Amino acid sequence: MNIDGTAYRTIWLGDDGATVEVIDQTQLPHRFDVAKLTSLEDTSHAIRDMLVRGAPLIGATAAYGMALAMREDSTDSGLANAHAMLMAARPTAINLRWALDDMLLRLESQPTDVRVGIAYERAAQVCDEDVAINSAIGDHGFEVIREFYEARGGNSPINILTHCNAGWLATVDWGTALAPVYKAHDAGIPVHVWADETRPRNQGAALTAWELERHGVSYGVVADNAGGHMMQQGLVDLCITGTDRTAASGDVANKIGTYLKALAADDNDVPFYVGLPSPTIDWTIMDGVRDIPIEKRDQEEVTHISGKTAEGSITKVQLTPDGAKAVNYAFDVTPARLVTGLITERGVCAASRDGLAGLFPERATPASEVLRRRRRR
Ligand code: MRU
Repeated sequence: MNIDGTAYRTIWLGDDGATVEVIDQTQLPHRFDVAKLTSLEDTSHAIRDMLVRGAPLIGATAAYGMALAMREDSTDSGLANAHAMLMAARPTAINLRWALDDMLLRLESQPTDVRVGIAYERAAQVCDEDVAINSAIGDHGFEVIREFYEARGGNSPINILTHCNAGWLATVDWGTALAPVYKAHDAGIPVHVWADETRPRNQGAALTAWELERHGVSYGVVADNAGGHMMQQGLVDLCITGTDRTAASGDVANKIGTYLKALAADDNDVPFYVGLPSPTIDWTIMDGVRDIPIEKRDQEEVTHISGKTAEGSITKVQLTPDGAKAVNYAFDVTPARLVTGLITERGVCAASRDGLAGLFPERATPASEVLRRRRRR
C-alpha cells in the first residue's frame, strides 16, 4: 500500500540481499521507522516485542528468520534451534507454526550448503503468497460490501466496524479484514470504518487509524466499549475482523475483545464476518474455545500507556495505582455460531467444518482424525 505516494510492504529484503527490513510498528503512528533484522535473535525479538505483529506478518517474518538463522548455522541442530526459538516467540497466531513447519520441511531434506539460498527463496515466496491471498480475500469481501451497498439503494456509505488491526500492517500487504474495505474504497463504494481502539496495545487507535488515514478511507476511532451501543443505534452495517487462528470448526481466535463485539453483533442482527487466509486455519483443532492457546502478555501493557505529548515527544505514563496488579489476555475466541461468514482467498463460507472443508477439501483433516488426536493429547 502507499505511504505518502510510495508503495510499501511491511517486510522486504535490504539492498545487501541478506538483511530483512520491517516497518517498526512499535513506533507508529507517531514515527515511521524501519528496523533491520540481521540475525535469528533479532527476528525473535521483533516478533516477541511486536515490532511486527498480525498473524500473517508474524508468519512471513518467521520465514525470513529461518533464512537469517541458516546464515548463522545451517546444520540440522541450527535448523532445529531456529525452529524452536521462533516457535516460542508468540503462541496464538498459527501462521507462525505454519511458516516454520513449511521452512523446516523444505530445508531438512537439503544439504547444509544450499539451505541459506533455499530459505531466502522460500521466505520471499511466503511473502508473495500472502499478498496474493489477501488480495483475493479483498475481492471476495468486496462482493459482500457491494451487496450491502446495493441492497441499501447504493446511495449511503456502508459502516464497517473492525477490531484491532487486520489491515496491511498486519500482513505483508493488503490486510485481511481491511482488504475488502480498500477494494471497495478504490472501486468508489463509500465506506466508513469504525476502528475499535483495542486496548491494551491500541492497535486500532494507532495502526488501523494510521493506515486508513494514509489511504484516504473515512474512519473514526471508537472506545472499545462503544460498539454495542453503536450497533443498537444502527450505526454499524457490518463487522469485519481478522483472526490469529481459526479452528477447523470455524471458531475464531482474534484480538481480545472480538468475542464481545460478536455477541453484540448477534444481539443486533449485525452480520459478523472474518477475513481468513488459509494459513491461519488450524485443521488440528475443532474446539477453539478449549484448545486454542491464548497468549498472556506483560501486565505493564495494561497498567501503562504511551502516547505523544503536546511538545511532540513520545512518553509512557502509568494509569493504575502504584503496585496495582493486572492480567493481560491478548486474544479471545469467538464461537463459530456467532460468525456470519469466513472470507477466505477461495470465497466466503459458513463458519463450520463443512464450510471450510468445502473450500479447502485437500487440507481438511477428517473429523474422526481430529477426535483421535484429541484423545491422544
Ligand atoms: O497482537 P497482535 O497485534 O499481533 O494481534 C493481531 C490481531 O489480532 C489481528 O486481528 C489478527 O492477527 C489478524 S491479522 C490480519
